[in-house]
Amino acid sequence: MPEQDLENFRQSMRRLAATVCIISCQKDGVRYGITVTSVTSLCMEPQSILVCINQSASIRPHIRDVGRYCVNLLTQSQADISKRFSGGVPASERFLEGAWCLSDDGIPYLADAQANIFCEIDEAFGYATHDILVGRVLSSRFNTEVAPLLYQDGKYAVGAPLDLSAAA
Ligand SMILES: Cc1cc2nc3c(=O)[nH]c(=O)nc-3n(C[C@H](O)[C@H](O)[C@H](O)COP(=O)(O)O)c2cc1C
Repeated sequence: MPEQDLENFRQSMRRLAATVCIISCQKDGVRYGITVTSVTSLCMEPQSILVCINQSASIRPHIRDVGRYCVNLLTQSQADISKRFSGGVPASERFLEGAWCLSDDGIPYLADAQANIFCEIDEAFGYATHDILVGRVLSSRFNTEVAPLLYQDGKYAVGAPLDLSAAA
């Protein structure tokens, strides 16, 4: 594909703002996690959610094996935690920062994230370099403040509600 087409796509995707999440799981007592933005709500009935994970990511074989994971929706003060889970920091040291807890059924979750959505893999598809996981929601919990950590234009960002009351 011509380099200009790749660059057009790259630049277009930089304009897609998304909430930053950490996907976390545990297998044989070892915790794994990865920062993602590829989370999409799927259905209410059954409650389900999508995430796309690179097949080269360290979490990938473990999440496929254990089948259960948490989608932690990060809040604005958690950019440093996001960075820990997006490379650079060895997998074994990623959970050293943050209020990480373990659910009754052994899924690690970040207790002060905006929300934690616990899932079980219902379907998984490979597409080129990535796995698309369809997660069936087991349970979810949320904190009252709505202050998502966003990623746009290759940078962390925050959003603010628009005041449309004065619009003509
Ligand atoms: C804001 C942000 C969003 C990301 N979104 C995804 C994603 O949706 N899927 C993915 O596989 N990697 C995503 N990554 C890249 C992974 O976090 C990164 O490659 C990670 O280091 C791979 O895991 P590993 O180091 O354990 O192999 C994202 C990184 C950042 C900073």
